[in-house]
Amino acid sequence: MLGIDLAGRRALITGSCSGLGRAIAEAFAEAGAHVAVHYRSPANPADQAAAQAVTASIIQAGGMAQTFAADISQADQVESLFKAIDGSFGGIDILVNNAGMDGVRALCSEGDIGAWESVVRVDLFGAYYCAREALQRMNRQKRGVILNITSVHEFIPWEGYSAYASAKAGLSMFTKTLAQETADAGIRVLAIAPGAIQTPINQSVWSNPKTLRDLDEKIAMGRLGTPREVATVAAFLASDLASYMTGTTVAVDGGMLIYPEFRHGG
Ligand code: BGC
Repeated sequence: MLGIDLAGRRALITGSCSGLGRAIAEAFAEAGAHVAVHYRSPANPADQAAAQAVTASIIQAGGMAQTFAADISQADQVESLFKAIDGSFGGIDILVNNAGMDGVRALCSEGDIGAWESVVRVDLFGAYYCAREALQRMNRQKRGVILNITSVHEFIPWEGYSAYASAKAGLSMFTKTLAQETADAGIRVLAIAPGAIQTPINQSVWSNPKTLRDLDEKIAMGRLGTPREVATVAAFLASDLASYMTGTTVAVDGGMLIYPEFRHGG
């Protein structure tokens, strides 16, 4: 039991068929929220099955969830997604812009233009399309929370991932600007910057002992985080316990942002 109350809150968590999104969906449901589990496309049967499994496990645990599909990089699909959620849940109280991709590692001078654009379309435009739809509804009810999942790479530059780092830094400023636009309407907008969390997105790194050691050295706590360790913070921020918080980023990174390399020397 989390000790956090989201009873009856209607929450969409984008990209909740795996990784952080899945853990957030499960924690929210545990706190009593009605959860819209989202994945990208029924054309990908593995994702569809994974999303349906998340929904089923929430329902089996006594929670409430339903599965929805949409490519969030397409504005018209996002519009239909929110209409479908209206139809099932009667509106939305919490949006977690979690869906994201880091793309293929490539230096700016060598990378593919389309690949760069795809990352920004999902990580930044996708969050924008979803926030736009959510805010139209939240403004009417004078209540709501938007959580944007950024990354430590909203702060730390990352060679080979300029699209990802730029999108995440953009999402951070988007968070602050929306918070400013909506504070007087009773809406809170926050970001969580996860560090290295053990999820499918970085599996190639943590499944190899050599790259795992290199990553652990970049974390003050010396280990990767679990999706649950991000999900509990998300549940707290989305709840009324965080009623005086808006427009800021909370890092959940085991101390990646305190430059552990500077413990010695300098
Ligand atoms: C990325 C991970 C990476 C972490 C730390 C995250 O935003 O998704 O792949 O391990 O940042 O670099």
